Amino acid sequence: MLLHLLFFSVILTITSPSPTSVQTNCTRVCSDGRGTNSVPYPFGFSDGCEIRLDCTAAGQTNVGTYNVQNITSDHMMVNFPANCDREFEQIQLFNNNSNFAITSRNAFLLEDCSSNLNDCVISITRIENRFNLPRCNRSSSMSCYLEEDSAGEDFLSLKRLETAGCRVLFSSVMVGLIGNNSRTLPVTMEFQLLELGWWVRGDCGCDGNAVCRNVSVENQRVGYRCYCNEGYAGDGFIAGDGCRRG
Ligand SMILES: *[C@@H]1O[C@H](CO)[C@@H](O)[C@H](O)[C@H]1NC(C)=O
Ligand SMILES: *[C@@H]1O[C@H](CO)[C@@H](O)[C@H](O)[C@H]1NC(C)=O
Ligand SMILES: *[C@@H]1O[C@H](CO)[C@@H](O)[C@H](O)[C@H]1NC(C)=O
Ligand SMILES: *[C@@H]1O[C@H](CO)[C@@H](O)[C@H](O)[C@H]1NC(C)=O
Ligand SMILES: *[C@@H]1O[C@H](CO)[C@@H](O)[C@H](O)[C@H]1NC(C)=O
Ligand SMILES: *[C@@H]1O[C@H](CO)[C@@H](O)[C@H](O)[C@H]1NC(C)=O
Repeated sequence: MLLHLLFFSVILTITSPSPTSVQTNCTRVCSDGRGTNSVPYPFGFSDGCEIRLDCTAAGQTNVGTYNVQNITSDHMMVNFPANCDREFEQIQLFNNNSNFAITSRNAFLLEDCSSNLNDCVISITRIENRFNLPRCNRSSSMSCYLEEDSAGEDFLSLKRLETAGCRVLFSSVMVGLIGNNSRTLPVTMEFQLLELGWWVRGDCGCDGNAVCRNVSVENQRVGYRCYCNEGYAGDGFIAGDGCRRG
């Protein structure tokens, strides 16, 4: 199979918060004493923040123990390194959350499953060879989970995965597809990265120069996101920095 793999590293650069922020009790800056990282609304590092992240002593932005690589207007990319000791239950850290969930563009690599999953267009051997990864257990094969037909669904349904009885959540691959379903070829694969989609709970609170889009998980509205109209920049949220011309 002809695979065109593009790998690009993502660095943490995030727009600086405006000093006129409405949500005064949310700390959006994470500092290690030398430099600072800041995250855009609705993210932050204290209790008053709509989406709470963790700021490590080293000044890293984390979700639990996982380092956040990039935050965009709808997604957040998290480092998800290969690990033979990661228990499957860790998946709940990303899925059972009131403000973000795993998108359907992620493929999971698993080990020690009671039923074998082999969903991925990419062969497991190829993944292992390409990335020179260790196999956790030589006597069992690696499994790969990717949503069969995610057309129209932003978020990954874990139902089938949960019934596969996997013990180890080894890693994940963010798969960029051209087209509308998983039968099309992946054009980009970002190994050991996990893409999460985020939202703000409640009724739309977007700037007058922004559009509001509802976010649904399994056909249930969970919240919304704001997008500034063309010609405007900003986070788009009334409670954040809104939109500015430019
Ligand atoms: C974040 O991801 C977007 C979309 O992939 C990309 O365009 C942007 O350059 C990334 N930002 C950083 C800081 O890596
Ligand atoms: C911020 O926190 C202080 C003290 O905890 C509280 O009195 C105040 O109402 C809070 N302000 C907002 C906007 O939540
Ligand atoms: C979320 O976690 C709680 C406690 O850990 C559990 O009771 C609940 O069923 C979980 N919900 C989902 C959707 O996984
Ligand atoms: C390795 O896989 C085999 C077959 O699935 C299983 O019986 C064994 O318990 C596994 N070993 C470890 C250390 O998990
Ligand atoms: C995706 O599906 C829509 C309608 O279902 C179609 O109009 C569009 O061309 C498709 N896009 C691709 C890239 O196949
Ligand atoms: C978002 O959902 C709310 C509540 O269901 C609904 O009233 C509103 O029209 C929806 N907005 C958009 C842009 O779809």
